[in-house]
Amino acid sequence: MTSLTINGRAHTVTVPQDTPILWTLRDELGLTGTKFGCGMGLCGSCTIHLDGVAIRSCITPISAAVGKQITTIEQVENDKLGAALQAAWIDAGVPQCGYCQGGQIMSAIALLKRTPKPADSDIDDAMSGNLCRCGTYTRIRAAIKTVAAQGVKA
Ligand code: FES
Ligand code: FES
Repeated sequence: MTSLTINGRAHTVTVPQDTPILWTLRDELGLTGTKFGCGMGLCGSCTIHLDGVAIRSCITPISAAVGKQITTIEQVENDKLGAALQAAWIDAGVPQCGYCQGGQIMSAIALLKRTPKPADSDIDDAMSGNLCRCGTYTRIRAAIKTVAAQGVKA
């Protein structure tokens, strides 16, 4: 049995220690907001936070999360920056098919918590691992800049 803290709540799972966090979230706990894309750490659709740092849950085993805080897209509306980003996302009409967007927002939250006033190069660096088949990159950058200009405190 493995004890995990997810979105502030304790969970116990009985899966092998090398099970990726992604499958634990989706298959064991029903938290399906985190998406499977490539399974190889290349697309960013499975992005979550581990102690506030954006990570790829498809290649991170649950053993790496023991004693740490897992945060998923389901928790975003309870986070000031997350809520501000969601609102900016809607205003800017960012989501198209939507598949990548949970991961995009998780990366954007981590960026703004680390760098409240990011330069374009900071945004590019932070978001470069999140791919979008629908090509929403320009609107994502605009939404991040909107929230940065609002000065929302993390
Ligand atoms: S599914 Fe994890 S990076 Fe693509
Ligand atoms: S909105 Fe469709 S993949 Fe990004």
